[in-house]
Amino acid sequence: MNKVRRYAACLQQLEATLSDAQLDRIGAMATITAVLHENMPDFDWVGFYRTLRPHELIIGPYQGHLACLQISFERGVCGAAAKQQKTIIVDDVREFPGYIACSSSTLSEIVVPVVEHGQTIAVLDIDADRLAAFDHVDQVQLEAVVALLLKVPPN
Ligand code: SME
Repeated sequence: MNKVRRYAACLQQLEATLSDAQLDRIGAMATITAVLHENMPDFDWVGFYRTLRPHELIIGPYQGHLACLQISFERGVCGAAAKQQKTIIVDDVREFPGYIACSSSTLSEIVVPVVEHGQTIAVLDIDADRLAAFDHVDQVQLEAVVALLLKVPPN
């Protein structure tokens, strides 16, 4: 199955599950990471970092290896996406200034900010163990996933 079809299946599953009135945002984040990690073969690590202190991201729900627990808005791909409020795709993490290595096997990365009322409330971070695993298709589809998360009422 190609990537576009895999994303369509993920989004269909997420639209059905995230609309459950019982769900809060932590549950929604956990569900998103599970669905993406399970269905997207390149996604070796999928997780959210949440802005729990000003300009500070703290680890949230994730799937994959143990990851770093907190990241300043001034550091890493996550910090850059949080600060600039735009999706960042890194084809080769070894060339990204200030990259934070949580696993030696990671070679490329995409980070999508979760922005609500002008504030970065979280980022969705995905790592792959091959170079240039992410492109514009991933950006569009993952931004659609984040839009679904934002429809879930805040805790
Ligand atoms: N590589 C990220 C840190 C988080 S881990 O990839 C899970 C970064 O540079 O922000």
